[in-house]
Amino acid sequence: MQVETNTIYCGDNLEVLAKFPEKSVDLIYADPPFFSNKHYEIIWGNGAEMKVYEDRWKGGINVFIEWMSERLWQCYRVLKDTGSMYLHCDRRANAHLRVAMNSIFGDDKFQNEIVWAYRTGGVSKRRFGHKHDTILFYTKTLNYTFNPLKERIYYEKPFFISNKDAEGRYYADVLMRDVWEIPAVINVSKERLGYPTQKPEALLKRIIEASSNKDDIVLDPFCGCGTTLVAAHLFGRKWLGIDVSPIACDRMKSRLNKAGASDVHVIGAPATIKELKSLEPFQFQNWVIDRIGGVPSSKKSGDMGIDGYTFMAREPIQVKQSEGVGRNVVDNFETAIRREHKTIGYIIAFSFSKSAYEEAARAKAEDKMDIKLVRVDEMDKYFATAT
Ligand SMILES: C[S@@+](CC[C@H](N)C(=O)[O-])C[C@H]1O[C@@H](n2cnc3c(N)ncnc32)[C@H](O)[C@@H]1O
Repeated sequence: MQVETNTIYCGDNLEVLAKFPEKSVDLIYADPPFFSNKHYEIIWGNGAEMKVYEDRWKGGINVFIEWMSERLWQCYRVLKDTGSMYLHCDRRANAHLRVAMNSIFGDDKFQNEIVWAYRTGGVSKRRFGHKHDTILFYTKTLNYTFNPLKERIYYEKPFFISNKDAEGRYYADVLMRDVWEIPAVINVSKERLGYPTQKPEALLKRIIEASSNKDDIVLDPFCGCGTTLVAAHLFGRKWLGIDVSPIACDRMKSRLNKAGASDVHVIGAPATIKELKSLEPFQFQNWVIDRIGGVPSSKKSGDMGIDGYTFMAREPIQVKQSEGVGRNVVDNFETAIRREHKTIGYIIAFSFSKSAYEEAARAKAEDKMDIKLVRVDEMDKYFATAT
C-alpha cells in the first residue's frame, strides 16, 4: 500500500503514524526532543520570538523513554523490510534510547553509532566540551539498502593507495567511517533559518545518499524546519514530514518551495498559522473555540468582547486573529468578564505585546482578575492541562 508523499503532516506523530500503512517507507531519520529540559525559542527573520516546542519532561528519563518508545514502535511498523532508521540523540538520552532501539529492532539490526562532531561556542572548564551528537543506525532486517560512501583522507608521505591533489597533498578516498565532522548550523551559517536545533543539510544528505535510492520514500517524524525533506527533495527522493508545531509546518512549506519543491501539501490539524490568518474572522473564532473544546457565545460576534466559554467552568474566552495584542484589549476584556461576574478569562491570539503581559499581571495583583494570555500555537497543550 502507498502513502501520500511530498506531504507535511501537522500533528502529533504518534497519531499521524498510526494511520500510515505498515512497511510503507524506505528510510526514517528522527531527531526528537533530546530530554534537554529546555524551552526552545525561535527567532524568525522579523525578530518576533515565539516558543515553538518544549523539551521538558516531568517524571524524568523513564517518562521520556516511554513517550519515545511508542513512537519508535510506529516507526518500526511503517518501515519496509529493506529500510533503515537513524535516530539522532545526544549524551542525555542516548544510552536509554539505544536499549529501547535494541529491544524494538533487535540487537543484530544495530549497524552503527555515528558520532557527529562539530564545533560550537561554549566549552566547560570542568570537563571536555560536549561537541558531538550520536546517531543510532538500525535496519529492519539484514537485507537492507546501503550505498557505501567514501571520504578523503590526507597523508604526510606518499602511501601505496595515495594520489596527489592540485596543492601537492597526498590523499586517498576511502570507505567512510562512523565519525563525521560536519559544521553545525550556527548564527553565521548561510543555511540558518532561526529554527532551534536545525541540523545541517550536509548531515542529512549523507544519510539519505547512503540508505536510500532515487524515488525511495524518506520520512522524518520530527521534521522541525524541514532539513531532511529538503535534502530528500534535492536527491530525488520522495518525502514525508511530521511536526506538531504549526509554525514549523508553515515555515517548512516555504523552505521546500524555495528549494524547488512546488507541489507541497500540508495536512492535518491544527491548520498552519498562515492558513489561520487567512480565515474569515468568524471562521477563525469558531475554529479556536472548537479546537479547545469550548462553547461559542450565544451573543452576536463581538458582543461584550466574549466569543465563547470554557466547557466545564464556563470561563469567558476572547479570540483575536492578530499578532502583538496590546494592553487595551486586556483592559477591555477585564471589564467584559467583570460584567459576567467572573474572575478568570482567556484571551487567545497569535502573540501578545509586552504591555499586554504587564497589564494582565497588574490585573491579577491589584484587581484579583486572572486574565490568561494564550498563544494559538500553545493552546492545544494549554487547554489540555488547564481546564
Ligand atoms: C530537534 S527538533 C527537529 C529539528 C530538525 N531536525 C531540523 O533540522 O529542523 C524536534 C522537533 O520535534 C517536534 N516535535 C516534538 N514533539 C512532537 C510530536 N509528538 N510529534 C511531532 N513532532 C514533534 C518539535 O516541534 C520540533 O520541531
